[in-house]
Amino acid sequence: MPLVNNYQPIIKPLTTKKMNEVAAIVACAENGVIGFENKIPWYVPADYAYFRRVTINHVIILGRKNYESIGHALPKRVNIVVTRDENYKKDDIIVENSIEKAIEHAKSISTETIFIIGGAEIYNLSYPLLTKLYYTEIHANVKGDTFFIPKDWNDWVLESEEFHAKDEKNMYDYTFKIYNRKK
Ligand SMILES: NC(=O)c1ccc[n+]([C@@H]2O[C@H](COP(=O)([O-])OP(=O)(O)OC[C@H]3O[C@@H](n4cnc5c(N)ncnc54)[C@H](OP(=O)(O)O)[C@@H]3O)[C@@H](O)[C@H]2O)c1
Repeated sequence: MPLVNNYQPIIKPLTTKKMNEVAAIVACAENGVIGFENKIPWYVPADYAYFRRVTINHVIILGRKNYESIGHALPKRVNIVVTRDENYKKDDIIVENSIEKAIEHAKSISTETIFIIGGAEIYNLSYPLLTKLYYTEIHANVKGDTFFIPKDWNDWVLESEEFHAKDEKNMYDYTFKIYNRKK
């Protein structure tokens, strides 16, 4: 039997439960550098303050190297550290052995945005699952050994941007940008 022209099935969602956003938050130099010798190679405290404001009271997911570079869990956030080491254990963190398990665990704790806070290996693993990107552009070319370059900028639509000039405290100009993944 032929289908009636313009027939549109009515599909109602089974539930209205909110889906978590999975967002990466990263500060990146113009040449893609995000780190050097397991540290962040610039001093822009306004970006640390922004990072804190955005991530506070949320679940954050980070790589084992990033966690050890910071040296402790970030306060007022649930810290989930991703490592292949099944025996890795610290008092102030939750440990998971894959990014998928880390995100699943985060979703079981919170209905709010989950933040992937790096480093590069963890950004790469989570890239296909990201729906939002908090991207601080550091307006400099910086020497580094760790990079974050989105696989395709065409995946992303700019929601907002806010430029700040360098000053006595912040060594480079910087722009806070927020992107959403194209639907
Ligand atoms: N500018 C920024 O916004 C920013 C943000 C964060 C970090 N950073 C910088 O980024 C650098 C660190 O980044 P990184 O890429 O070297 O390290 P990372 O992503 O922090 O951690 C890498 C570790 O994650 C674990 N891992 C990787 N793939 C895995 C998988 N498939 N399954 C389970 N665990 C996995 C491994 O831990 P194990 O070896 O324990 O198995 C691996 O050594 C530092 O320089 C840091 O300062 C910059």
